[in-house]
Amino acid sequence: TVKKDLAGVRVLITAGATREDIDPVRFITNKSTGKMGYALAQAARDRGAEVTLVSGVSHLKPPHDLEFIPVVSAIDMYHAVLQRFHLTDVVIKAAAVADYRPKSAAEHKIKKGTGELVLEMSRNPDILLELGQKKKAGQILVGFAAESQDLLENAAQKVQKKKLDFLVANDITLPDAGFGTETNIAALVYPDCEPLCLPKMDKIKLAHRILDEVVGIRKSSPID
Ligand code: PMT
Repeated sequence: TVKKDLAGVRVLITAGATREDIDPVRFITNKSTGKMGYALAQAARDRGAEVTLVSGVSHLKPPHDLEFIPVVSAIDMYHAVLQRFHLTDVVIKAAAVADYRPKSAAEHKIKKGTGELVLEMSRNPDILLELGQKKKAGQILVGFAAESQDLLENAAQKVQKKKLDFLVANDITLPDAGFGTETNIAALVYPDCEPLCLPKMDKIKLAHRILDEVVGIRKSSPID
C-alpha cells in the first residue's frame, strides 16, 4: 500500500507533446509519449493528491480518478495551466512544449511548389517561466529538462531562471532514458545545493522519487 502523504494536496501535472499546426494536414511536434507525466499523475493520485493532468498529445489512456484536460498546442497548454495555477499547490511540468509555432497556420493545405519552402516561426510563451514569476509562498514548482549536452550546466541555469524548487534533468542521449522509454535516468537539480544523480529506474519509480522530494519540501517549509 502507498502512503497517503499528499492527501488533499492539489497537484497539476503536464505531460506529452504539444502539436503546432502548419496547415490543416501538417504539424510540428516532438517525441514525448506522455509516459513520464502520466506516471507522475498516477503516483500523485495514489498518494492522495487531487490531481489535474493537462495532457498534450499522447496515445496513453487517461488515468482514472483525476481531472483530465486534453490540449493540443503550447498556447492551449499555457491557458489551461495559467487558469488553474492559483488553485494549485504543486506544479510538475513533464510535458515537452514547443518553443516555436508556425507564425500563422495556413487555412488551406500548402501546395507543393518547385523551390524551397521557408516556414516562419513565432516564439511560444514559456509556461514555466511565467509560473515562476507568479508563484506565491508555499507553491512548489518542478520542471523537467530534456538535454542532449551539458546536462547539469543547462539544468542549473533553468532552475534559477524559472525560479523552480527543483528540476528533473534527463540526458536524452542515454539509452533507456528520455522520450518513449519505460525507464529514465535523471538528476535532481536544486537552486542552492549540489545535484543528485539518480540511477536508471522505471518511470513510475522515478515519479514516486520526485514526489518524495515534493513531500520533503512541504515538510521543511510548512505554510500553515
Ligand atoms: O513523455 P515521455 O515519452 O515519457 O518522455 C519524457 C520527457 C523526456 C518528455 C520528460 O521526461 C521531459 O524531459 N520533459 C521536458 C521536456 C522539455 O521540453 O524540456 P525543455 O528543456 O525544453 O523545457 C524545460 C521545462 O520548461 C519543462 O518543464 C517544460 O515543460 C517547460 N516549458 C518549456 C517550453 C515552454 N514554452 N514552456 C514550458 O513550460
